[in-house]
Amino acid sequence: FTAHASSALRESEPMVRYEEYADVDWNNLGFGLTRTDYMYKAKCTLNNTFEQGQVTDYGNVELSPAAGVLNYGQGIFEGTKAFRGQDGRILLFRPDQNAIRMQIGAERMCMESPSIQQFVDAVKQTAIANKRWIPPSGKGSLYLRPLLIGSGPTLGISPAPEYTFLVYASPVGNYFKGTAPLNLYVNTEYHRATRGGAGGVKSITNYAPVIKAMLRAKEQGFSDVLYLDSVHKKYIEEVSSCNIFLVKGNTISTPATVGTILEGITRKSIIDIARDLGYKVEERLVAVDELMEADEVFTTGTAVSVASVGSVTYNGQRVEYKTGDKLVSQKLYKTLVGIQVGKIEDKYNWVVEI
Ligand code: COI
Repeated sequence: FTAHASSALRESEPMVRYEEYADVDWNNLGFGLTRTDYMYKAKCTLNNTFEQGQVTDYGNVELSPAAGVLNYGQGIFEGTKAFRGQDGRILLFRPDQNAIRMQIGAERMCMESPSIQQFVDAVKQTAIANKRWIPPSGKGSLYLRPLLIGSGPTLGISPAPEYTFLVYASPVGNYFKGTAPLNLYVNTEYHRATRGGAGGVKSITNYAPVIKAMLRAKEQGFSDVLYLDSVHKKYIEEVSSCNIFLVKGNTISTPATVGTILEGITRKSIIDIARDLGYKVEERLVAVDELMEADEVFTTGTAVSVASVGSVTYNGQRVEYKTGDKLVSQKLYKTLVGIQVGKIEDKYNWVVEI
């Protein structure tokens, strides 16, 4: 049935739209928001479980001015992607891992969270409902954004009395403009997270504070900012939007997740893929000086996928890295995307067909 099916029907029936594809310029997708048709929404009150939830028309959300998320930043989010395989299958990548991460984040932020099954079902329903927005195979993906917010009012600092779980979607291409290697700027003035803070979970409060340094870096032609640890100001942590890796010989190193670094799902998938391809992978403290001496540097994230880094600038010194098709990061990228779109056998059982 059609785009204008009644909400009563939509609650109980899977949705099918007339056309296979929405009217989108699929060759020029960036990482901007494209308004899609539907979103998922479910609520719950403190100390209760979430209601069943339903797919509704995409639109604005009404909130009390005193909502916990608006006043005290009680909110966490996720990012996951639906891909169209060459054979037309619709594939999700490890949505259960996002569900688990949302539960861990919710615990840290004193929020109620949906069950793993409800989360995964919500993501599936949102992807299916917005199927015509899933790019043709090889042209991008449908980025799904699960969002958990303290929607109930609270004047003093306390857990909100009500939570809203939403999933919306947008077709996306590359996170960074084009596919050119990134130019990263190591910021020594600001820090993204501190030990004991919330840097290890996907709290909304981790993102607004990075915008200032990011804009400044972009004004100077950099792609993004790499942060150092706030205690020693010496160990690399992560980029505003992604985790970081370096390659030296046959060894790949990445900062260990010690509470200040996001436990990226792409990060841990790449660690598994790299080990299976015969690389030694170390998760440890990585000094910025080591980064400056690496053979190759790359970043990982759901939005970013795997992106090679062409240069790092730290304390006025710019180091350039190898680029091109032969990079370790390109091999990892092709393997990851091959699995995500169903071109390479998924021996890990990561892909979920919907
Ligand atoms: C993702 O990679 O899904 C993220 O959440 C990063 C975001 C800043 C775009």
